[in-house]
Amino acid sequence: MCVKMRKSSRKLPDIIRSRAVLRKYVEDWKRAGDKIGVVPTMGALHAGHLSLVKAAEAEADRVIVTIFVNPKQFNNPQDLANYPRTEQEDAEKLAPFDVDMIYVPDPEEIYPDGFSTQISVSGVSEGLCGRHRPGHFDGVATVVAKLLLQTGADRGFFGEKDYQQLKVIRRLVQDLDIPFEAVGCPTVRDADGMALSSRNTQLSADERNRAAALFTTLKWAQKQLMAGAPVTETLDQARQDILAAGFEEVEYLELRDEETFAPVSSTPEASARLLVAAWMGSVRLIDNIEVC
Ligand code: PAJ
Repeated sequence: MCVKMRKSSRKLPDIIRSRAVLRKYVEDWKRAGDKIGVVPTMGALHAGHLSLVKAAEAEADRVIVTIFVNPKQFNNPQDLANYPRTEQEDAEKLAPFDVDMIYVPDPEEIYPDGFSTQISVSGVSEGLCGRHRPGHFDGVATVVAKLLLQTGADRGFFGEKDYQQLKVIRRLVQDLDIPFEAVGCPTVRDADGMALSSRNTQLSADERNRAAALFTTLKWAQKQLMAGAPVTETLDQARQDILAAGFEEVEYLELRDEETFAPVSSTPEASARLLVAAWMGSVRLIDNIEVC
């Protein structure tokens, strides 16, 4: 890996909106032998996103952060309309990092007139969020494939917070022979364990306090399962605890094999993941924890 000069000032990274200009930069970097890292995001950046940028800085010569609120992965038009768009603040948050470019594609660079292709990854995208957000992972797979091909990145950095998404992306690049490594990065949490998410800002102060029970309960269940407690009973109790903390609904709480992502219903022998989605007021929160 070639050594790049650190940026000394807190200059805002270049914001590029055109694919042709992006190409030009990428061609120059590739000619110089630089390895390119990409951090795909939908903006509204928080410390979770910035941890991916840090990982990219450490593991690539050139770092591209993409910001694109992808309409195809929203199955609820209101959710899409409400999604925060904070480009200037995002650029400022990225200034202290060694980011070479923020790619904020104009929508027609991603979905030009006549766009008709959709990538659908079966298996790992089924159940969990795939069941409750129909079409969501098709939208994610399609946009991620486009962003990887447009940026020509060698590596991408993704949060384990969206664990099923990470599985879908890994399957996608493997199945389509995209020469790209999807690196998974640990979930960044607030002091009370709550996973950082752009949706947390939509919670009232009271809801935010109560929502910490999601991770507390995952940790409790992890301990029980690792001590050999039966899966069904443990998950039943955990569901009740989440509801008792003030969540309206537990959309799913499931144990899945880490490798195959198949549901696990008896005490896990291999590494597993416990994944949850639950509603606090009008906000849908997801989280997960490893059980090994
Ligand atoms: P977005 O929700 O903006 O998330 C961008 C990346 O940040 C994802 O890889 C996500 O897993 C990661 N992330 C979010 N919260 C995190 C946390 N608390 N700790 C660590 N990483 C965290 O995920 C998407 O956008 C989109 O689906 C995208 C992949 C960009 C495709 O449109």
